[in-house]
Amino acid sequence: MNNPFIYGEIAPGEAFADREAELDRLVTDLSGAQKVFLISPRRYGKSSLVHRALAILARQGGLTVNLTVSSYSSYVSFLEGYARALATVETKWQRARTWLSEVITTTRPELRFETSDPSQGHFSVAFPAVRTERDINRLANEIFALPGRLAAERKRTVIVSLDEFQAIEGFNGGSVEHALRAAAQQQRQVGYVFAGSEPSLMEKMIGPRRPFYKAGPVIRLERIPAPLFADFLETRFAASGIRAEPGLGAAIVDLAGNLPYDVQRLAHETWDDVRAAGGRKAGLESLHATLTRLLTEQETLFDVIWQRLTMAQRAVLRAVVLQNGRELLSADVRARYRLGGPSSIQGSLAALVKQDLLMKDGPRYVVMDSLFREWVARRTF
Ligand SMILES: Nc1ncnc2c1ncn2[C@@H]1O[C@H](COP(=O)(O)OP(=O)(O)OP(=O)(O)O)[C@@H](O)[C@H]1O
Ligand SMILES: [Mg+2]
Repeated sequence: MNNPFIYGEIAPGEAFADREAELDRLVTDLSGAQKVFLISPRRYGKSSLVHRALAILARQGGLTVNLTVSSYSSYVSFLEGYARALATVETKWQRARTWLSEVITTTRPELRFETSDPSQGHFSVAFPAVRTERDINRLANEIFALPGRLAAERKRTVIVSLDEFQAIEGFNGGSVEHALRAAAQQQRQVGYVFAGSEPSLMEKMIGPRRPFYKAGPVIRLERIPAPLFADFLETRFAASGIRAEPGLGAAIVDLAGNLPYDVQRLAHETWDDVRAAGGRKAGLESLHATLTRLLTEQETLFDVIWQRLTMAQRAVLRAVVLQNGRELLSADVRARYRLGGPSSIQGSLAALVKQDLLMKDGPRYVVMDSLFREWVARRTF
């Protein structure tokens, strides 16, 4: 029997909970060739949602291309990866190769096979002659026009997903955004989804005076409703031969701060422990035993993080954990945790957010990693 819970990768069909309205909307917008922004904090499930939407769109006859912007080390390598992805969408490499050499005119692409067997290998695209900024910009304009060409030539809707889109700014600031927006808005047969996991950067990108202002619909992914997620967990436990005691689902969701990744991690690890012990049911005790194991396993890592914090940051972090992230600036909380003045607290909060340890969730601050939160609560003083 396989573990029914999955974390750290795209959540496949059976491990995917809810998101029906969001999925519907995304599919409809993309098949209508809209330029959609999908925004949420990290690990809420953007990539999994996009993956599912693309699968549906492909079944409906769309040509789908999916690229993770943040995995490229330079603007040119991003353009190379993008060109490659567009050329190879549902086509044989010989054809892709001919197509690319035809459609790219500002430079001569170097197209190469990585392995000797053309039916298996990856082929790579490189633009070795592209050096100056001017060359890069000309090439970029040409490549950003490719989805439109592809749609016209193949007479199909093309859907482009650019994941971790906030990383685009690192390439060369404003000009990429301009070029991409200018190209995308002329492409009537191409849907785009720009997914990004740093809400503040993404919100700025779609703000006034930026190229993507009002470019298309914005979907802000929220948490999965807790009761629904809890039911989903208990059903999955039952279907895999381990009965979840009533309340286990809710306890996992709560302990995991209802962050999809953390929820799946706790469920997965609890399932593993119960299974390893030959158990047939899982309850709160199983959950707490698993939690204790995980905290011990992460001890070294968490300790390193803790040691790197300043004293002021440690105190603020503990206050966030113990106060549930609320009213940190009140006189009472400041006195209880010996926090110093409001501006110093604000400074520590900002530093903790910057380090990806905290995030702002409405009026309150939450610790990103629920295991780290529990570790701070139990093992620091
Ligand atoms: N709809 C869902 N139902 C159940 N679990 C989910 C769902 N979406 C995501 N998850 C869980 O959360 C994990 C992270 O999801 P995913 O990688 O899609 O999020 P993301 O927002 O793209 O994260 P990142 O910002 O790190 O790229 C998945 O591995 C899975 O365990
Ligand atoms: Mg992702």
